[in-house]
Amino acid sequence: MGEVDPAFVQDPEHRPKLWVNEAEGIPLINLSAIKSEDDPEAIEEVVREIGSACKEWGFFQVINHGVPLEIHQKVEAEARKFFGLPLEEKTKVRRDEWSALGYYDTELTKNVRDWKQVFDFAVDVPTFVPASPDPDDNNLMQWTNQWPQYPPQFREACEEYSREVEKLSLKIMELIAQSLGLGANRFSGYFKEQTSFIRLNHYPPCPSPQLALGMGRHKDSGALTVVAQDDVGGLEVKRKSDGEWIRVKPIPNAFVINVGDNIQVWSNDKYESVEHRVMVNSEKERFSIPFFLNPAHYTVVEPLQELIANEQNPPKFRPYNWGKFITHRKLSSSKKLNVENIQI
Ligand code: SIN
Ligand code: FE2
Repeated sequence: MGEVDPAFVQDPEHRPKLWVNEAEGIPLINLSAIKSEDDPEAIEEVVREIGSACKEWGFFQVINHGVPLEIHQKVEAEARKFFGLPLEEKTKVRRDEWSALGYYDTELTKNVRDWKQVFDFAVDVPTFVPASPDPDDNNLMQWTNQWPQYPPQFREACEEYSREVEKLSLKIMELIAQSLGLGANRFSGYFKEQTSFIRLNHYPPCPSPQLALGMGRHKDSGALTVVAQDDVGGLEVKRKSDGEWIRVKPIPNAFVINVGDNIQVWSNDKYESVEHRVMVNSEKERFSIPFFLNPAHYTVVEPLQELIANEQNPPKFRPYNWGKFITHRKLSSSKKLNVENIQI
């Protein structure tokens, strides 16, 4: 058995099981119907499938999603090159506690270190966020993307990929809106000045995969996450029906989609944001690329009026300011807020 620094060791109840529960069940949805838009029945079927996946799992995978394979392959290849650089090269673009996005390898989830290295970049430039979580302080700051000099194609590959995945994420938001009985564009206005970002994750082989996690259990705080994972596997979802951890099977050219806390609040708990985590292994490194679709910083997130209009369904959450929320999160990584804090 190998050894890891105690900072990475999970409490016994949160350590992963090394045998994998890869139950069938996480829905796989074929999006080919959305390309042509001339078959309303086929689109309605996709909407139904998405609605039931959001309700039952909070997670699903999509194929025939329209993101060109070569764009996905290129960003993955560039990410491999970047993470293969010596540490002193990667830390030239180190992410800081404040506004600079970039490389980071000391991420904590619930106070335990994650066995991973990340590179973050904002999708929309410039991206403005509140400078302080204080509701009376209206100063804004700007996130800055830092791009490494090497590999030379890195920036271009990241930006190209982000444009494609952004389109897919907004399309899925339309389908989710329809599945809630709302107009397809009900959510569109929230993302005009989005605070979305992309994270390149590298999980190196770990000598103690039974003690550490690539990323500890958590829920995503934004609207929607679109994840590209390689063929190694490791992402696990807590199944709503029984609390078991289920492996999200890698499917070539598919994306894993999950509901974030914003959708849980907008839908007034109809679609829950579900806990997930990442296992590591002792032999293989793993790469994944989540796109976090997040609203504009000034968005007030609250249950949608249309969905709480009757007395049987009173609002279950207090309104909160998205920008203040993320600034608070960033400045207090050990004390992360989530939807439970705003539940009524
Ligand atoms: C995450 O962002 O939750 C991790 C995604 C992954 O590595 O599969
Ligand atoms: Fe996540």
